[in-house]
Amino acid sequence: MLVLNNKCNFTKNEFIDYQKELQEIAATANVILCPTAINISNFNLTNISLGAQDVSKFSKGAHTGEISASQLASYNVKYCIVGHSERRTSFHETENDINLKIKNLLENNIIPIVCLGETLLEKQENLTSEKLTNAAKQLKNNLTKEEVNKLIIAYEPLWAIGSGLIPNITELEQNLSILKQNFPHNKILYGGSIDTNNIKIFQESTLLDGYLLGGLSLNPTSLKKILKILKNN
Ligand code: PGA
Repeated sequence: MLVLNNKCNFTKNEFIDYQKELQEIAATANVILCPTAINISNFNLTNISLGAQDVSKFSKGAHTGEISASQLASYNVKYCIVGHSERRTSFHETENDINLKIKNLLENNIIPIVCLGETLLEKQENLTSEKLTNAAKQLKNNLTKEEVNKLIIAYEPLWAIGSGLIPNITELEQNLSILKQNFPHNKILYGGSIDTNNIKIFQESTLLDGYLLGGLSLNPTSLKKILKILKNN
Protein backbone atom coordinates (compact mmCIF):
# COMPACT_ATOMS: atom_id res chain seq x y z
CA MET A 1 0.00 0.00 0.00
CA LEU A 2 1.27 3.41 -0.99
CA VAL A 3 -0.40 6.57 0.34
CA LEU A 4 0.38 9.79 -1.53
CA ASN A 5 -0.03 12.91 0.57
CA ASN A 6 0.07 15.90 -1.77
CA LYS A 7 -0.24 18.29 1.21
CA CYS A 8 -0.93 21.91 0.09
CA ASN A 9 0.36 21.54 -3.47
CA PHE A 10 -0.99 21.70 -7.05
CA THR A 11 -3.31 24.32 -8.51
CA LYS A 12 -6.27 23.01 -10.52
CA ASN A 13 -4.35 22.75 -13.80
CA GLU A 14 -1.22 21.38 -12.16
CA PHE A 15 -3.36 18.67 -10.56
CA ILE A 16 -4.94 17.80 -13.91
CA ASP A 17 -1.46 17.44 -15.50
CA TYR A 18 -0.23 15.41 -12.52
CA GLN A 19 -3.13 12.99 -12.85
CA LYS A 20 -2.35 12.47 -16.54
CA GLU A 21 1.08 11.19 -15.47
CA LEU A 22 -0.38 9.00 -12.74
CA GLN A 23 -2.69 7.29 -15.22
CA GLU A 24 0.23 5.11 -16.28
CA ILE A 25 0.83 3.78 -12.79
CA ALA A 26 0.36 0.03 -12.62
CA ALA A 27 -3.10 -0.93 -11.42
CA THR A 28 -1.56 -3.84 -9.50
CA ALA A 29 -0.24 -1.59 -6.75
CA ASN A 30 -2.66 -0.43 -4.06
CA VAL A 31 -2.12 3.32 -4.34
CA ILE A 32 -4.19 5.89 -2.46
CA LEU A 33 -3.98 9.52 -3.56
CA CYS A 34 -4.76 12.20 -0.97
CA PRO A 35 -4.99 15.49 -2.89
CA THR A 36 -5.61 18.91 -1.36
CA ALA A 37 -9.34 19.09 -0.54
CA ILE A 38 -10.13 21.50 -3.37
CA ASN A 39 -8.69 19.05 -5.91
CA ILE A 40 -10.82 16.12 -4.71
CA SER A 41 -13.67 17.02 -7.08
CA ASN A 42 -11.20 16.89 -10.01
CA PHE A 43 -10.01 13.37 -9.18
CA ASN A 44 -10.58 11.17 -12.23
CA LEU A 45 -8.24 8.19 -11.90
CA THR A 46 -9.51 4.63 -12.00
CA ASN A 47 -6.25 2.85 -11.14
CA ILE A 48 -5.85 4.65 -7.81
CA SER A 49 -8.10 5.06 -4.72
CA LEU A 50 -9.12 8.45 -3.43
CA GLY A 51 -8.18 9.69 0.03
CA ALA A 52 -8.39 13.00 1.90
CA GLN A 53 -5.80 14.72 4.07
CA ASP A 54 -8.14 15.74 6.87
CA VAL A 55 -11.81 15.90 7.86
CA SER A 56 -13.91 18.06 10.15
CA LYS A 57 -14.61 16.88 13.68
CA PHE A 58 -18.16 18.14 13.11
CA SER A 59 -20.69 16.07 11.21
CA LYS A 60 -22.42 19.06 9.56
CA GLY A 61 -23.78 22.54 10.18
CA ALA A 62 -22.49 26.04 10.91
CA HIS A 63 -18.73 25.43 10.84
CA THR A 64 -17.29 27.81 8.25
CA GLY A 65 -14.49 26.35 6.16
CA GLU A 66 -14.94 22.78 7.35
CA ILE A 67 -15.45 19.66 5.22
CA SER A 68 -17.45 16.83 6.81
CA ALA A 69 -16.94 13.09 6.49
CA SER A 70 -20.31 12.70 4.73
CA GLN A 71 -19.26 15.34 2.18
CA LEU A 72 -16.01 13.46 1.56
CA ALA A 73 -17.95 10.20 1.19
CA SER A 74 -20.24 11.84 -1.37
CA TYR A 75 -17.12 12.44 -3.52
CA ASN A 76 -16.14 8.77 -3.22
CA VAL A 77 -13.35 9.36 -0.74
CA LYS A 78 -12.44 5.95 0.71
CA TYR A 79 -9.55 6.83 3.03
CA CYS A 80 -8.59 9.86 5.13
CA ILE A 81 -5.37 10.81 6.90
CA VAL A 82 -6.07 11.82 10.52
CA GLY A 83 -3.81 13.41 13.13
CA HIS A 84 -0.93 14.19 10.80
CA SER A 85 1.77 15.93 12.84
CA GLU A 86 1.43 19.06 10.70
CA ARG A 87 -2.22 19.29 11.79
CA ARG A 88 -1.42 18.49 15.40
CA THR A 89 1.33 21.13 15.49
CA SER A 90 0.13 23.93 13.21
CA PHE A 91 -3.59 23.58 13.88
CA HIS A 92 -3.46 22.47 17.53
CA GLU A 93 -5.41 19.30 16.88
CA THR A 94 -6.04 17.38 20.11
CA GLU A 95 -6.57 13.66 20.84
CA ASN A 96 -10.25 14.46 21.38
CA ASP A 97 -10.49 16.15 17.95
CA ILE A 98 -8.79 13.14 16.36
CA ASN A 99 -11.18 10.76 18.08
CA LEU A 100 -14.23 12.72 16.82
CA LYS A 101 -12.79 12.75 13.29
CA ILE A 102 -12.21 8.99 13.36
CA LYS A 103 -15.78 8.35 14.53
CA ASN A 104 -17.21 10.60 11.79
CA LEU A 105 -15.11 8.88 9.14
CA LEU A 106 -16.07 5.37 10.23
CA GLU A 107 -19.76 6.31 10.28
CA ASN A 108 -19.32 7.24 6.63
CA ASN A 109 -17.35 4.12 5.71
CA ILE A 110 -14.09 6.00 5.19
CA ILE A 111 -10.97 4.26 6.51
CA PRO A 112 -8.90 6.52 8.79
CA ILE A 113 -5.12 6.49 8.33
CA VAL A 114 -4.01 7.62 11.79
CA CYS A 115 -0.54 9.16 12.13
CA LEU A 116 1.57 8.65 15.26
CA GLY A 117 5.21 9.40 15.98
CA GLU A 118 7.77 10.88 18.33
CA THR A 119 9.40 14.32 18.20
CA LEU A 120 13.17 14.78 17.93
CA LEU A 121 13.34 15.71 21.61
CA GLU A 122 11.41 12.59 22.64
CA LYS A 123 13.77 10.49 20.52
CA GLN A 124 16.85 12.15 22.04
CA GLU A 125 15.52 11.59 25.55
CA ASN A 126 14.72 7.92 24.85
CA LEU A 127 11.01 8.55 25.23
CA THR A 128 9.89 7.08 21.91
CA SER A 129 8.58 3.84 23.34
CA GLU A 130 6.60 5.70 26.01
CA LYS A 131 5.25 8.17 23.46
CA LEU A 132 4.06 5.47 21.07
CA THR A 133 2.58 3.35 23.86
CA ASN A 134 0.67 6.31 25.29
CA ALA A 135 -0.54 7.44 21.87
CA ALA A 136 -1.80 3.93 21.14
CA LYS A 137 -3.48 3.70 24.52
CA GLN A 138 -5.25 7.03 24.09
CA LEU A 139 -6.44 6.06 20.64
CA LYS A 140 -7.76 2.69 21.81
CA ASN A 141 -9.40 4.06 24.98
CA ASN A 142 -11.75 6.20 22.98
CA LEU A 143 -12.78 3.63 20.38
CA THR A 144 -14.47 0.23 20.40
CA LYS A 145 -12.43 -2.86 19.40
CA GLU A 146 -14.31 -2.99 16.09
CA GLU A 147 -13.50 0.65 15.41
CA VAL A 148 -9.82 0.15 16.28
CA ASN A 149 -9.55 -2.81 13.92
CA LYS A 150 -10.68 -0.65 10.98
CA LEU A 151 -7.81 1.83 11.34
CA ILE A 152 -4.64 1.99 9.29
CA ILE A 153 -1.77 3.10 11.51
CA ALA A 154 0.98 5.30 10.06
CA TYR A 155 4.24 5.55 12.02
CA GLU A 156 5.61 8.97 11.21
CA PRO A 157 8.51 10.18 13.38
CA LEU A 158 8.14 13.97 13.38
CA TRP A 159 11.87 14.48 12.97
CA ALA A 160 11.83 12.42 9.76
CA ILE A 161 9.05 14.31 8.00
CA GLY A 162 10.44 16.42 5.16
CA SER A 163 13.90 16.42 6.78
CA GLY A 164 15.77 13.84 4.70
CA LEU A 165 16.45 11.91 7.95
CA ILE A 166 15.19 8.38 8.49
CA PRO A 167 15.38 5.83 11.31
CA ASN A 168 17.84 2.95 11.00
CA ILE A 169 16.35 -0.50 10.59
CA THR A 170 16.87 -1.50 14.26
CA GLU A 171 15.16 1.64 15.50
CA LEU A 172 12.42 1.23 12.91
CA GLU A 173 11.66 -2.38 13.86
CA GLN A 174 11.71 -1.56 17.58
CA ASN A 175 9.20 1.25 17.16
CA LEU A 176 7.02 -0.64 14.71
CA SER A 177 6.87 -3.61 17.07
CA ILE A 178 5.41 -1.36 19.78
CA LEU A 179 2.69 -0.34 17.34
CA LYS A 180 2.18 -3.94 16.20
CA GLN A 181 1.72 -5.08 19.80
CA ASN A 182 -0.95 -2.44 20.25
CA PHE A 183 -2.56 -2.88 16.85
CA PRO A 184 -2.06 -6.56 15.95
CA HIS A 185 -4.91 -6.62 13.41
CA ASN A 186 -4.10 -3.37 11.63
CA LYS A 187 -2.08 -2.44 8.60
CA ILE A 188 0.98 -0.43 9.60
CA LEU A 189 2.64 2.12 7.32
CA TYR A 190 5.78 4.22 7.63
CA GLY A 191 6.06 7.85 6.50
CA GLY A 192 8.91 10.40 6.63
CA SER A 193 11.52 11.28 3.99
CA ILE A 194 11.09 8.13 1.91
CA ASP A 195 12.84 8.44 -1.45
CA THR A 196 14.00 6.27 -4.31
CA ASN A 197 17.40 5.72 -2.63
CA ASN A 198 16.29 4.77 0.87
CA ILE A 199 13.12 2.76 0.13
CA LYS A 200 15.25 -0.42 0.23
CA ILE A 201 15.90 0.11 3.94
CA PHE A 202 12.17 0.13 4.64
CA GLN A 203 11.69 -2.98 2.54
CA GLU A 204 13.90 -4.82 5.06
CA SER A 205 11.20 -4.34 7.67
CA THR A 206 9.11 -7.39 8.47
CA LEU A 207 6.37 -5.31 10.08
CA LEU A 208 5.43 -2.82 7.39
CA ASP A 209 2.38 -3.05 5.15
CA GLY A 210 3.12 0.07 3.15
CA TYR A 211 4.42 3.61 2.93
CA LEU A 212 3.19 7.18 3.15
CA LEU A 213 4.90 9.57 0.76
CA GLY A 214 4.79 13.37 1.09
CA GLY A 215 7.40 15.22 -0.96
CA LEU A 216 7.99 12.29 -3.27
CA SER A 217 4.28 12.05 -4.10
CA LEU A 218 4.62 15.28 -6.08
CA ASN A 219 7.04 13.77 -8.57
CA PRO A 220 5.46 11.18 -10.90
CA THR A 221 8.86 10.08 -12.26
CA SER A 222 10.14 9.22 -8.78
CA LEU A 223 6.82 7.60 -7.95
CA LYS A 224 7.09 5.31 -10.94
CA LYS A 225 10.65 4.43 -9.86
CA ILE A 226 9.48 3.59 -6.32
CA LEU A 227 6.67 1.40 -7.67
CA LYS A 228 9.15 -0.43 -9.89
CA ILE A 229 11.46 -1.06 -6.92
CA LEU A 230 8.55 -2.32 -4.82
CA LYS A 231 7.32 -4.57 -7.62
CA ASN A 232 10.74 -6.17 -8.06
CA ASN A 233 10.96 -7.25 -4.43
P1 PGA B 1 7.70 13.47 3.51
O1 PGA B 1 6.26 13.59 4.24
O2 PGA B 1 7.64 12.21 2.69
O3 PGA B 1 7.78 14.71 2.66
O4 PGA B 1 8.71 13.42 4.57
C1 PGA B 1 5.66 12.46 4.77
C2 PGA B 1 4.40 12.86 5.48
O5 PGA B 1 4.31 13.98 6.01
O6 PGA B 1 3.46 12.07 5.54
